Amino acid sequence: MTDSQFQKGHEVPVTHQEFPGKEHKLPLQAQYDTLPTDEGGYQKYKAAGKLQGKKAVITGGDSGIGRATAILFAMEGADSFIVYLPDEEKDAQETKRMVESHGRQCHLLSTDLTSRDNCKKVVDEALKQLGGIDILFNNAAYQMVKSDIHELSEDQWLHTFNTNIHPYFYLSKYALPHMSRGSTIINNASINAYIGRPDLLDYTSTKGAVVSFTRGLSNQFVGKGIRVNAVAPGPVWTPLIPATMDDGAQETFTSPMGRPAQPSEVAACVVFLAAADSSAISGQTIHCNGGVIVNG
Ligand SMILES: NC(=O)c1ccc[n+]([C@@H]2O[C@H](COP(=O)([O-])OP(=O)(O)OC[C@H]3O[C@@H](n4cnc5c(N)ncnc54)[C@H](O)[C@@H]3O)[C@@H](O)[C@H]2O)c1
Repeated sequence: MTDSQFQKGHEVPVTHQEFPGKEHKLPLQAQYDTLPTDEGGYQKYKAAGKLQGKKAVITGGDSGIGRATAILFAMEGADSFIVYLPDEEKDAQETKRMVESHGRQCHLLSTDLTSRDNCKKVVDEALKQLGGIDILFNNAAYQMVKSDIHELSEDQWLHTFNTNIHPYFYLSKYALPHMSRGSTIINNASINAYIGRPDLLDYTSTKGAVVSFTRGLSNQFVGKGIRVNAVAPGPVWTPLIPATMDDGAQETFTSPMGRPAQPSEVAACVVFLAAADSSAISGQTIHCNGGVIVNG
């Protein structure tokens, strides 16, 4: 299967991996620095120096949307500090290589963000390595398909909240004292917060919390010149999918556009929210979901 066939709407190849998913094990390579063309191919993302000299922290930056964001940030002139789980070292090294190929820095830290102390360590270490923080992209998440509330264990419920929302609070709280006018926080939510996906009840609930957290935090900081926004992707071709979705969920992994998005297509929205192009936007969510109309 070629990339362009995939773009025209063929089903994703159904495969399975252990969590956390590995980019280097994806059966079909994702797009990080290209965007779809009308002809069914891809063209290089066109950078314009929108983040020149900025310093970004990206959680889950080894793969998927986080990797694509680190790369587009680098193309736009920003250095990154990426956080991921220890199992993902190989993917993180590849992200670093790709960022550095654009002449920017990519600092690495593998740590488990479900620990508050580790979130503190992330901010301390990022400040040391980058010399400041202008952009925080809260992007790491856990999900595991369970079709019924009776199959969803209490432990999974807690783990999903400990991964998907508590670190967003801790990292924002610890980073904000070091941010100034013009800094931005972007949180990764999901279409599932809006459509109420039944087989991801815990995940869907945390993503609703991410949207509300974005709104409340924006109302605290918008007057201080720090904007807080979210992206709410629909299906995106990343290692999260083979690592967390059963055959049925993968077979129906598409959008009204007839395909899942590429990580680069979400990353381009993150660049927009991080850059001055979105200077009048705060507390909002960009619905990069392949054309599903949602309210909110
Ligand atoms: N892929 C999709 O279809 C899709 C759709 C909507 C939203 N999203 C969101 O996009 C974001 C990125 O996911 P992705 O699809 O790029 O997949 P991904 O697997 O590439 O990224 C998820 C990352 O989260 C990190 N992570 C998970 N648990 C962690 C922990 N305890 N400590 C530290 N890091 C941890 C891992 O580094 C992992 O790489 C997530 O917030 C996800 O909910 C994805």
